[in-house]
Amino acid sequence: MTPANGAGADRGDGRGDGRGAGRGTGRIGGAAAGPELDGRAGPPGEPPRVPLLEVRGLCRAFGGVRAVDDVSFTLDRGRLLALIGPNGAGKTTCFNIINGQLAPDRGSIRFGGRELVGLAPHRIWRLGVGRTFQITATYPSMTVCENVQMALLSHHRRLLSLRGRASAQYRDEALALLERVGMAEQEDRPCSVLAYGDLKRVELAVALANAPSLLLMDEPTAGMSPGERIELMQLTAGIVAERNIAVLFTEHDMDVVFRHADHILVLDRGRLIADGAPEAVRANPRVRAVYLGSEDVALA
Ligand SMILES: Nc1ncnc2c1ncn2[C@@H]1O[C@H](COP(=O)(O)OP(=O)(O)O)[C@@H](O)[C@H]1O
Ligand SMILES: [Mg+2]
Repeated sequence: MTPANGAGADRGDGRGDGRGAGRGTGRIGGAAAGPELDGRAGPPGEPPRVPLLEVRGLCRAFGGVRAVDDVSFTLDRGRLLALIGPNGAGKTTCFNIINGQLAPDRGSIRFGGRELVGLAPHRIWRLGVGRTFQITATYPSMTVCENVQMALLSHHRRLLSLRGRASAQYRDEALALLERVGMAEQEDRPCSVLAYGDLKRVELAVALANAPSLLLMDEPTAGMSPGERIELMQLTAGIVAERNIAVLFTEHDMDVVFRHADHILVLDRGRLIADGAPEAVRANPRVRAVYLGSEDVALA
C-alpha cells in the first residue's frame, strides 16, 4: 500500500522510463522556473514545486455504493492522463468532484497548491479548471464563432451579450482558437448544423477560451468514428504540448488511450487498481483481470 496512491495501486509510473524530466505524474518536473501554479520543478537547489493537480484520499459514496474509494494521484503540466475503468467504475464521479459539482465525503484536491474542495464550480473554473462535456454544451442557434466569442466574453468577465451578430468583440481571438482546432472555415455556420465531430472541436475551442491550465474531458470522443477519435486526441495532445497544460480524460476506446495517454489510472468499483505508464498498465495482471471478458475493451 502506498499512501501516495491509495488502495494499493500498482505503481509503474514511468519515472524511470527514460522519457525525461517532467514526464511522470510525480513531482519530478521540467527545467523551467515559473509561478507556483506551473506545477513544475524549479531550478536545482530550490524546493520542488507542487504538482498542478494533487488528489488525495478522495471518497464519495451514493447510499451503499462507494463510487470513489480512497483515490489519490497527481498530474503535472504537459501531461495527458487517462482515467479508465469499466462502466460504473467512478470516473465521472471523480470529474464531478474535481470541478466542484459534487462534494466528496473525504479527501483533498489541490490545484497549484490550493484546496479546491468546498469551492463552487464557477470559482474552480475561474482558477483554470476547464471541462468539455460528454453531451455537447454549445448554443445551437449561434454560429461557431459566436459560441467561442461568448466563452471569451465570459472569461474576460464582460457582459454576456454579443450585442447583435455583427459584434467584433474577441472575434480575432475566437478565430485564432477556431483555427487551432481546424474550425475557422466553418466559423459562420450555426452550431446546430455541424457534424458531430466538428461540434466536439468547437467545444474544445470553447473550453480553451477560458485559458485553463487543467482540462477535464469526460469521454470526449464518444459517438465519433475511429478516425475522428484519433484526430481529436492528436489535436488535444498538440494543444497540451503547445500550451503546457494538463488534460485528464476518460475514454472507452483502448486504442485511443494507449496511443495518446502518457500515463494511465485504472479505476474498478471506485478503487484505483493501477497507476502507470501505458506499457506497464497494459501488462498489469489486475487490469487484465478487470477487463477480461469485457467485450468492448481489448487490451492486447
Ligand atoms: N448521482 C448519483 N446517485 C446515485 N448513484 C450514483 C450517482 N452518480 C453515480 N452513481 C453511481 O456511482 C458509481 C460510479 O458512477 P460513475 O462515476 O458515473 O462511473 P463511470 O463514469 O466510471 O461509468 C455507479 O455505481 C453509479 O451508479
Ligand atoms: Mg462516466
